[in-house]
Amino acid sequence: MKKRILTGDTPSGKLHIGHYVGTLENRVKLQHEYETFILLANVHAYANDFRQAEKINKSVYEVFLDNLAVGIDPEVSTIYLESGVPETYELYSFFLTMVMLARAQRNPSVKEEIQYKKLNPSMGFIAYPILQAADILQFQTHLVPVGEDQLPVIEQTREIARDFNETFGETFVIPEAKVGRVARLVGTDGKLKMSKSGENAILLSENEETLRKKVMSIFTDPNRIHPTDPGRIEGNPLFIYHDAFNTNAAEVEDLKSRYTKGKVGDIEVKEKLFIALNSFLEPIREKRKYYEDHPKISKEILMEGTKKARKVVIETVEKFREKIGINKLIQ
Ligand code: TRP
Repeated sequence: MKKRILTGDTPSGKLHIGHYVGTLENRVKLQHEYETFILLANVHAYANDFRQAEKINKSVYEVFLDNLAVGIDPEVSTIYLESGVPETYELYSFFLTMVMLARAQRNPSVKEEIQYKKLNPSMGFIAYPILQAADILQFQTHLVPVGEDQLPVIEQTREIARDFNETFGETFVIPEAKVGRVARLVGTDGKLKMSKSGENAILLSENEETLRKKVMSIFTDPNRIHPTDPGRIEGNPLFIYHDAFNTNAAEVEDLKSRYTKGKVGDIEVKEKLFIALNSFLEPIREKRKYYEDHPKISKEILMEGTKKARKVVIETVEKFREKIGINKLIQ
C-alpha cells in the first residue's frame, strides 16, 4: 500500500507563487508516489468566527481551482472539503482534552499569526493546530507538505499522536512535515513574506497585464540609484524570484554578474523576470480556465473527493472509538 499525504490550505484568497515553492510544487510532484489528499480547510478559516462561513465559500473555490491549476490531478489525488467530513470534529474534541492550554498558547505558529494579524484570538483560533492534528491523523498520514510557518503545528500533531499511541497502543501514524525548496518567499515589497491578504503577492492566477505591473513595481536594491551603480543580489527580491522561477540559469548568472558590476538596468532584469514568470504561469492559467469553464466537472471532482475522503476517515475514527471504548454501552 502507498503511504499517504494530507495537506491543504486555509482559504483566505487566491494562492500565490510563494505557496507554489512552499508547498504546492511538492504536492504535485509527490502525488504519484503517495496516495494524496488535498484539504480545502474551510473550517480553519472560521477559527476566529464561523459567522463568516458563507462568505468564505468564494475563497474556498479559488483555492480549489488553484490546486487543480498547478497540476493536482483529480484522477490521481483526492481533493475534499473539510466541513464535508464532520467526523474530524469528533477527533478534534477528544484531542482538545489532551493538550494543556499553556502548551496550545505556546505554539509559535499561533503566536506569530496573532501578532501578525493583530488578533483578539478566540478559543477556536488558539486551538487550530489541534483541529489540524485531526485533519492529518484521521488519514494515517505519513507526509505533510507545508510552508515553513506550519512546522510547529506539525510538531504538535506528532505530540498528540505519540501521546495517544502510548496510552492506547499503535493507532495513528506519526506524520512528518516536508517544506518546499523556498521556505518563505519574499514579497514584492521586499518584506518577508508574501502574504495572502496583502498587496505584495504575485498570484498564480495573475493575468499578463497585472503580472507586468507587479513585476515592474518589485522592490529592489534601495541603494542603487543609477544603472551604473553596483547592485546587491543578496536579499534582492528580483533575484530571489529569478532564482526560483527563471529556468534559464545562464541568463540569471549573466544578469547577476552585470548587476553587481553596475552593467545592467533594473528594467532589463525586470523584463526578463516578467518573461520567465509569464511562461511559468501560462500553463497554470490555462488549466485554471478549463476548470472555471467546466463548473459541472469541477463540482463533481469536489463532491466525489469529499465522499472518498470521508470513507477513509471513518475507518480511522471507528478504530479510534474502539480503542478508547466510548460506545461500548450502546453496541
Ligand atoms: N493551517 C494550514 C494553513 O494555514 C492549512 C491546513 C489546515 C493544513 N489543515 C491542514 C495544512 C492539514 C496541512 C495539513 O496553511
